[in-house]
Amino acid sequence: MTASTWHPIAKLFHWGMAVLIAYQLWLGWEAEELPFSPKKIDLFITHKSIGLTLLLLVFLRLAWRGIKPRPPHDANASRLERGLADWGHRLLYVLLVAVPVTGWWISDTSRIPFKLFGEVRVPDLMDANKESSELAASVHEFLTIALVVLVAVHVAAALRHHFLLKNDTLKRMLPWR
Ligand code: HEM
Ligand code: HEM
Repeated sequence: MTASTWHPIAKLFHWGMAVLIAYQLWLGWEAEELPFSPKKIDLFITHKSIGLTLLLLVFLRLAWRGIKPRPPHDANASRLERGLADWGHRLLYVLLVAVPVTGWWISDTSRIPFKLFGEVRVPDLMDANKESSELAASVHEFLTIALVVLVAVHVAAALRHHFLLKNDTLKRMLPWR
């Protein structure tokens, strides 16, 4: 039998990652604005550390989704709506992997050594290379903006289900339900 609501672990991944991503966006933008200073370095250490944690979390989340498949779509949703929702979610997952990977690429090709949460040295996979690091920074920025836009569409879709279509799509994802 398929469950009609999201498993509590799936909700924990969803909302936990949403909160971390919001913090992560703030950290990235705030750190970029600051002049070179110990505060800027601290913010970037936290940004890189939370970013790599998010990369690990998305793989755990996908593994969990493999074990416990998502509940079915709202019965009244058309084929087109189901398709849009499924492809929208797939694209979100692609960006949830691609954004931290490109961040790691910037960090790996820059000359700044990086320790996860200031403790664990992350091994360098590539040689330091200014051009590569700058390209990575542009791709990271572009993909981050794509993620923000897609999340905005995603939130609008969730609110449409709740307020216009008046179905349970949003309610069954809420943590307290
Ligand atoms: C979901 C994960 C992530 C999000 C949402 C995110 C978001 C951002 C944002 C908003 C910025 C500032 C503006 C921009 O260049 O886009 C930024 C910059 C940056 N991020 Fe991330 N990031 C993530 C993961 C990572 C990871 C895992 C690393 C490294 C291990 C990283 C390293 C950097 C660096 C080095 C910059 C400065 C780029 C520059 O010099 O222009 N990020 N990130
Ligand atoms: C950074 C923020 C967010 C990200 C990255 C995100 C990502 C996702 C992803 C990938 C799924 C699909 C889950 C799966 O099929 O495994 C999902 C489902 C869902 N999200 Fe979000 N989400 C975010 C924020 C929000 C917010 C703020 C809301 C509410 C206003 C929301 C409402 C929902 C709902 C209702 C579902 C279930 C959709 C359905 O039943 O088809 N999300 N989210």
